[in-house]
Amino acid sequence: MNAIIIYCSKTGNTEKVAKAIERGLGGKVDRVKLDLSPEGLLKDFSPIFTLDVSPYDVIFFGGWVMVMRVHPFLYTYIKRCRNLEGKKVAGFLSGGAGLSREHAHDDFKALIKEQGAELVGFSYTPTLLGLTLTQKKLRAAEDFARNITRRLNP
Ligand SMILES: Cc1cc2nc3c(=O)[nH]c(=O)nc-3n(C[C@H](O)[C@H](O)[C@H](O)COP(=O)(O)O)c2cc1C
Repeated sequence: MNAIIIYCSKTGNTEKVAKAIERGLGGKVDRVKLDLSPEGLLKDFSPIFTLDVSPYDVIFFGGWVMVMRVHPFLYTYIKRCRNLEGKKVAGFLSGGAGLSREHAHDDFKALIKEQGAELVGFSYTPTLLGLTLTQKKLRAAEDFARNITRRLNP
């Protein structure tokens, strides 16, 4: 299964989850970190948005929750991403609080539906600013990715 992980992370929590997902997928996947630096945010998005997702069977999108929603940079990226229609998509978000899970999930679900893609899985990792990002949660993220692979490749 050809998979790609595309994510944004400011303080490193989502990045740890992204790496756990990479391990869960067996390590043989592409991983792209979106540039959240001030310079990256000012770019016209064009270099990164030319990325063609058509060779991939499944795309894992990850980011952190901001004001109970998918981070606006990831949101914009997904909206502008080409060739997403008909693709299988899995989402992984990290957020400080468990109570943002449902809002963020609904937001992500609606976004993926709008793009005509199929949501095959969603995972949310509560971090409390990294204080509660335990090995157990990272192993759960690995399992999340592993289970998606098994489901898509029976
Ligand atoms: C401006 C701002 C807004 C945030 N809003 C929320 C929120 O609404 N709900 C939540 O659970 N966490 C919120 N957080 C916490 C982050 O989502 C959380 O710390 C996340 O794990 C950071 O991921 P990162 O380390 O990959 O950047 C917010 C953080 C910032 C800086």
